[in-house]
Order: sequence, then C-alpha cells, then structure tokens
Amino acid sequence: MFRLFSRPLPLVLGLAVFSAIPVLNALFQVFQIPSGSYPEDSARLALAPIAWFAHVLAGAAFGITGPMQFVRALRHRFGALHRVTGRIFVLSGAVLGLSGLSLLAQVTSVRTPVVDIARGLFGLALLIALALAMAAIRDRDILRHRAWVIRAYAIGMGLGAVALVFFPIYVVTGQPPMGLASDILLVGSWVTTIAIAEMIIRRSSPSIARVPA
Ligand code: HEM
Repeated sequence: MFRLFSRPLPLVLGLAVFSAIPVLNALFQVFQIPSGSYPEDSARLALAPIAWFAHVLAGAAFGITGPMQFVRALRHRFGALHRVTGRIFVLSGAVLGLSGLSLLAQVTSVRTPVVDIARGLFGLALLIALALAMAAIRDRDILRHRAWVIRAYAIGMGLGAVALVFFPIYVVTGQPPMGLASDILLVGSWVTTIAIAEMIIRRSSPSIARVPA
C-alpha cells in the first residue's frame, strides 16, 4: 500500500477520489449560498454567511489544489505552476481553518461536543501545519516541507474519509447520521486519516525521522 502511495499517479488519483465528495459538496454550496438554494438542513449556517461562504470556497480550492501539490511532473517541470497552486493551497487552507473556527464560534452545533472539540483542535492544527510547511520551504528543507504539506492536507480533508460512509447513508435516508456513536466514528475516521498520512510520510521518506519537525 505504501509503495503504491509513494508513486505519484496512484497517490494523486487516490487523493482525488478520497476528497471528491467533500469537494463536490463544497462546490455546490459555493453556488447555492449566494442564490439561497441550499438544503434546509444547512440553513442555520446562514447565520454566519461570510464564514460559511469563505469556508466552502476555501474547502473546494484546498481539496482541488492539494492533490496537485503531489504531482511530481508539476513540481519538477512546471515549478512556477507548483508554486502558484501551492500558494492557493496554503491561502485556502488558512481560510478553511479560520472560517471553520469562526463557524464553530457563531453557529449552534447539531453534533455532540466530541465533534466540536475535534473541529476546534483540527482547525488550529491545520493553521499550525500550514505555517510549519511554509517555514520549512523558507529554510529550503524540502523533506520537512513535504511532510507538513501532507499533514495539513490530511488534517483539512480528514472529513473526506467519513464522507465516504456518511454520504451514502444521507442519500438513502435523507438524514445525516447523528448521535454519539456516529460522532465517535466521525472523529475516529478523521484521526485515522491523519495517522495514515503520518505512516505514509515515514514510509516514503525514511530520513524524515532525522529531520527535526
Ligand atoms: C480542519 C478542517 C475543517 C474544520 C475545522 C471545519 C469546520 C466546520 C464547521 C465548524 C462547520 C459548521 C458545521 C455545523 O455546525 O454544521 C463546517 C461546515 C462545512 N464544512 Fe468544514 N471544516 C473543515 C474542513 C472542511 C473541508 C476540507 C471542506 C470541503 C472540502 C469542508 C466543507 C464544509 C461544508 C460544505 C460545510 C457545510 C455543511 C452543511 O451544509 O451542513 N470543511 N465545517
């Protein structure tokens, strides 16, 4: 599995499939929010329209530019393009984290504190991971930069794993899975995604252990 993930094309395709549901959902909402045609169960987010719109726009940009950062040809042959998409990735990740925290503060949650605490912690962790990725590239430390970009992507898109399970349930029942059990599953999937990213970092860059994080 890790050999597979260390190869550029399967990695990019895998990430694109993994993030497809949250990215498409966010993209739909980019158009639904200004026109007011969003689903009824999202209507309470309209109490914080700017944070909500910024969040879905940033989520879509983050989910699209994230996999592009791992395309080797883009990095090596089109370095300028890699730097442009990289800046969009970092900027959208920062907006995603800040707007996520802002939504958390402004909107009454329908989930248990398990999810809300995770959102708060991972929102902050995303901002820190992006700052460390930027600091690493300023130091010209490519390995450390790559590791923090992967971590940032896994933290931000960690909800993708749970969407793969929750979204089909939502389509069939018309209701998102709710309650403590589903919230524990949600946070567990998020943490598992981050743990898998950490394993990928370590397996594909053995010398990372020697690089101070
Ligand atoms: C660390 C990362 C993230 C944090 C902390 C975060 C936080 C939040 C919070 C607090 C809400 C409001 C939830 C509610 O009360 O219902 C929310 C909603 C939402 N988020 Fe995120 N989010 C993150 C990542 C993402 C990503 C990567 C995407 C998309 C690619 C995304 C797309 C959405 C969408 C579409 C909604 C609206 C959901 C609805 O319609 O009910 N989020 N997020």
